[in-house]
Amino acid sequence: MAPSRYLPVLVALLTLPVSAAQATGDQKGKELYVKHCAPCHGASGEGDGVVAAHLSPPPADLAQALKTELVSDEYLMWTIREGGRNVHTGMPSFEETAQINEADAQAIVRYLWETFK
Ligand code: HEC
Repeated sequence: MAPSRYLPVLVALLTLPVSAAQATGDQKGKELYVKHCAPCHGASGEGDGVVAAHLSPPPADLAQALKTELVSDEYLMWTIREGGRNVHTGMPSFEETAQINEADAQAIVRYLWETFK
């Protein structure tokens, strides 16, 4: 057996489902993130969006936050709903702005895990 010969095939098989998923259902999460979150948190999630420099405290580095154990689905849904209204940051409460419904928030949260973790 020469396992290395099969490696390209294996890699192709492993990456296939991921790219297929991103092209379909998760496209919505991405679009919503780009529209509602990226201006502050940046396309990379690192907190370097175009308006980031004007905010104090600056937007969170989501890529960093998602790697900690404190961050869960519930926490992410809560931050989208509440924004900074309880903790006095510049993040809007999307419940207040009524721009993001429950299903859209869930799509964003899925996108965050898939993209930045
Ligand atoms: C107007 C700028 C702005 C927008 C738009 C924005 N955020 Fe934020 N966000 C912030 C700021 C500022 C903080 C607070 C950072 C801190 O507390 O140090 C924050 C914090 C967070 C946190 C907490 C991270 C942690 O480490 O606890 C999460 C999660 C988050 N934002 C997700 C989102 C998502 C998802 C969206 C889009 C639906 C979004 N934000 C839109 C500015 C923004």
